[in-house]
Amino acid sequence: MPFTIAIDGPAAAGKGTISKAVAAALGYAHLDTGLLYRATGRRVLDGLEPLAAAQALVAEDLARDGLRTPEVAQAASRVAALPEVRAALVDFQRAFARRQGGAVLDGRDIGTVICPDADVKLFVTASAEIRAQRRLAELLAGGHDVTADQVLADVRERDARDMDRADAPLKPAEDAVRLDTSALDIDTAIAQALAIIRTRQ
Ligand code: C5P
Repeated sequence: MPFTIAIDGPAAAGKGTISKAVAAALGYAHLDTGLLYRATGRRVLDGLEPLAAAQALVAEDLARDGLRTPEVAQAASRVAALPEVRAALVDFQRAFARRQGGAVLDGRDIGTVICPDADVKLFVTASAEIRAQRRLAELLAGGHDVTADQVLADVRERDARDMDRADAPLKPAEDAVRLDTSALDIDTAIAQALAIIRTRQ
């Protein structure tokens, strides 16, 4: 039986790092679904129409450089509000989730829309200020020229757009376990996530 773990939450809450570590610890495959929206957003910035951009995605697009910039993140959250773009990306995500050997998917709507029957659902959160601090450190380390105020405004704008959209808004599934990482270092957050998952295996 495939075992599916859904990890959702807002930007920079730690879900990407937690998902990667959980997948490595359990030997499962991992899909960062944000990359699907980032790659679509990137293609729209390059001039494609959103639905065509989503339909034309190929696996190599997810490995493209330059998907982690604030500009692409904003473009991703704009295309992610379009129902036709979301619909075009559903089958790929569900097929990934059904892999033999187990899968971890992280995103915004995995537990609510993509995998409502996931074996474990985690909703990873942290305060907007803490998330902005983490994202600022990542961006500065990557050589991006940004200020703390810009990053906090960006995080808040994306949160609002992700939570307020009509189609698949960011929210915890009713049966999700919440993990607030505001006061946790990343190793503790990973250990807590694994402890929750192991109670369901
Ligand atoms: O997780 P990441 O920051 O890479 O996601 C980029 C954007 O893609 C998010 O702000 C969100 O709008 C969108 N997204 C989504 N559903 C997902 C994953 C990401 O709408 N499952």
